[in-house]
Amino acid sequence: MNVEFRSIPFTAVEADALLLLHFEDAETPAHEWFGELAASGESKGKLFDLPLLHRPAGFAAKRLAAAGAGPAKSFTPAVLRKITGAAVRALKTKGVRSIALCLDHPYAEAALAAAAVEGAVLGNYEVDIHKSEGKATDLATFILVSPADLAPAVAHGETIATAQNFTRALVNEPGNLLPPLELAARAAKMAAANGLDCEILDEDRMRQLGMGSLLGVAMGSAQPPAMIILRYVPAEPSQDHLCLIGKGVTFDTGGVSIKPSDGMEKMKYDMAGGAAVLGAMQAIAQLKPNVTVTAIVPTVENMCGGKALRPGDIVTSLSGKTIEVLNTDAEGRLILVDAIEYARRLGVTHMVDAATLTGAIVVALGHVHVGAFTNNDDMLAKVLASARTQGENMWHMPLDDDYKDYLKTPFADLPNIGGRWGGAITAAYFLKEWTGGTPWVHLDIAGTAWLEETKPFLAKGPTGVCVRTFIDLAMNWR
Ligand code: BES
Ligand code: ZN
Ligand code: ZN
Repeated sequence: MNVEFRSIPFTAVEADALLLLHFEDAETPAHEWFGELAASGESKGKLFDLPLLHRPAGFAAKRLAAAGAGPAKSFTPAVLRKITGAAVRALKTKGVRSIALCLDHPYAEAALAAAAVEGAVLGNYEVDIHKSEGKATDLATFILVSPADLAPAVAHGETIATAQNFTRALVNEPGNLLPPLELAARAAKMAAANGLDCEILDEDRMRQLGMGSLLGVAMGSAQPPAMIILRYVPAEPSQDHLCLIGKGVTFDTGGVSIKPSDGMEKMKYDMAGGAAVLGAMQAIAQLKPNVTVTAIVPTVENMCGGKALRPGDIVTSLSGKTIEVLNTDAEGRLILVDAIEYARRLGVTHMVDAATLTGAIVVALGHVHVGAFTNNDDMLAKVLASARTQGENMWHMPLDDDYKDYLKTPFADLPNIGGRWGGAITAAYFLKEWTGGTPWVHLDIAGTAWLEETKPFLAKGPTGVCVRTFIDLAMNWR
């Protein structure tokens, strides 16, 4: 999809459809041509409503769309992101190939322009790349029109949403087409195209280093594991060194503690955290923030082959801590702790991880909020501030030391699962045991990385959650 910015009178914009925002509670319609639409009752400005006027007099555009924007007082970039997404999804099924949005005073702002473009690019994404026929048609062009110079904001929004779609496309790939080495190859290709340093630790290297926890999980699969490491260094080296870590389980059968077959196909999305980190790095390479950023994606396939971990097996992690694997389905934390220890050895000053870690976070927060855990409230505040500006819902979860009692075993330093209760918290607590004093935020995205139902503004399937928050975090690091 082509994204353009124009500073011309919007009556002159040539497009299949020109969107004009129509607010619900506007006393006088923002533009006189909504008058008749409003009077007829066809346009009330309700969010996502999209009545069309064909061949509007005095316009170069083929259609005028009164894009329902809801009440003006609750209008934000997050709302506009959804409006353009919904408009793209609704109109492209009607043969519309080019859409323009007019952002006039008082809405001619950079944050709104970026969000509008993001919504359009994200809304255009489809999950049907492996279909041979009946694919949805792409929108060809999205044009932002404004009297203000919003060209930089438009470019910024396109970069961000393209990165988020890169993540979604990775998450959408099934386990057979995207095993760990293929994920590593895609990461290396992205890194080369964007000028990032890339290092892939292979199985031998990880054995030399002593990543027994990650390698334990990998044992059950014929597919070799990898540790993907990407590095962005700003022109002026920074004191702080941010590390993004993402769970990259390319398929999670559960291992010997096997999952029920119902819905297991969705476990191809168990690398969504890793994919979010890779997407964020693509945008970071292009937008060039002032902070050093290292990305680490431990990637394995969790299978139940003849060499697989058994319940009760004890592995030694890179840090030297031993772990009793009571449940082979709690594999994400096993690969993440070796990544966390590796990050600490690199000397990173701050860590944030994203992982489809627990079913328990879905019980706690549903499909609405990401669960956010931390050992450092200042670091969490930064992440939550970025999430808020990016319209990603995140909720602070507890992680006090009282939960330590849930992780006890006589046989090793730690068991890899707690008891029946507080499963998302015990998983987070397990990770925390490896963070030492390094400020760290853990984002459990098991409930938010995948959309079970199509929304007006987003296709069912991978959401790319955390990509925008990670980019914003790096761009506004201070
Ligand atoms: N990948 C799953 C978590 C998950 C569940 C992601 C549902 C997305 C949707 C993770 O590896 C897992 O299986 N966790 C177990 C942990 C349990 C054994 C303590 C779980 O949540 O059931
Ligand atoms: Zn699992
Ligand atoms: Zn998993």
